[in-house]
Amino acid sequence: MPLPTIEWIGVVDGRIKLIDQTLLPNELKYVYCDDIESIYNAIKTLMVRGAPAIGIAAAMGTVIGIKNKNAVNFESFFKQLKEVTSYLGSSRPTAVNLFWSLKRMEDTALRNSDKPISEIKDILLNEAKTILEEDKEICRKIGENGENLLEDGSCVITHCNAGGLATGDYGTALAVIFAAVEKGKNIRVYADETRPLLQGSRLTAWELKNAGIDVTLICDNMAAHTMKTKKIDCVVVGSDRIAANGDAANKIGTYSLSIIAKEHNVPFYVAAPASTFDLSIVSGDEIPIEERSPDEVTSISGNKIAPDDIKVFNPAFDITPASNIKAIITERGVINSPNTENIKNIIGNKP
Ligand code: MRU
Repeated sequence: MPLPTIEWIGVVDGRIKLIDQTLLPNELKYVYCDDIESIYNAIKTLMVRGAPAIGIAAAMGTVIGIKNKNAVNFESFFKQLKEVTSYLGSSRPTAVNLFWSLKRMEDTALRNSDKPISEIKDILLNEAKTILEEDKEICRKIGENGENLLEDGSCVITHCNAGGLATGDYGTALAVIFAAVEKGKNIRVYADETRPLLQGSRLTAWELKNAGIDVTLICDNMAAHTMKTKKIDCVVVGSDRIAANGDAANKIGTYSLSIIAKEHNVPFYVAAPASTFDLSIVSGDEIPIEERSPDEVTSISGNKIAPDDIKVFNPAFDITPASNIKAIITERGVINSPNTENIKNIIGNKP
């Protein structure tokens, strides 16, 4: 059974329980968020991270944000709700699942505007729980749809962490691997360590090893040599936002991995739920790229590894062009040769 990354607990006041992912793999510690600042902070500092998990946390955070608000009518309640959603929406800019889930919470309130405020609050709690439960099903479906791209004996490279920790459970990219293994296939994985915050070594290697899957850790700059010297059958990664034309944002380093894969004729797959598509933007050029603190580059686990006052560029994501992606695996089906038309055929007009 996968560990629950994120749960709604507490019958009376309600709290969010989540794994503090910044401490893994050295310590498995749960934190409890019972106010909006603590959930904002958990998202911002990557205690909870990965596009779908951020969306789930934000939906639950919305419930916490409005639980003590007293409004005399729907109009003032909705104004308060919007303050909460825009605060949570300012935590991280790239993963569209955050904005997708906050909008879903707002739309749910609007659909129930005729009900008493206390009832709307209960409905919003149910919606947040539904987003979590749906995500678990979606991840299984992504696994089911993608596993036949892997053959018995396949060797896969993955980048960052798109596993159970990044979702309700089971993951997106890792779902494809888990599902293939559950079908009895022997799958080997090379996990990029994923500097600067090491989601690959700390989280993906940990998840795969715990699941008994044959995983080998490499530094990011070893991917080209690994592809040249080992038999690598494909790359599978997750995504934080996919534009209408199929350009996909994912953890920094994914773009270079896609170029390396192209050079070696290795198929490059992206696995992501429909909620990761942002059909309002035409191409990846419009995806906002988060830039994070220089400290993440100048130190590792608090140990300084660079001169004082060195200039640093620390983008957290990059864009892989659709032309480098063989297929996008979603819960609605596999989108081969992703482009605007092929995406519309599977995703439709609304994620
Ligand atoms: O900065 P992070 O750790 O939130 O970045 C996460 C990723 O880039 C994941 O690959 C992506 O969110 C897909 S998670 C299923």
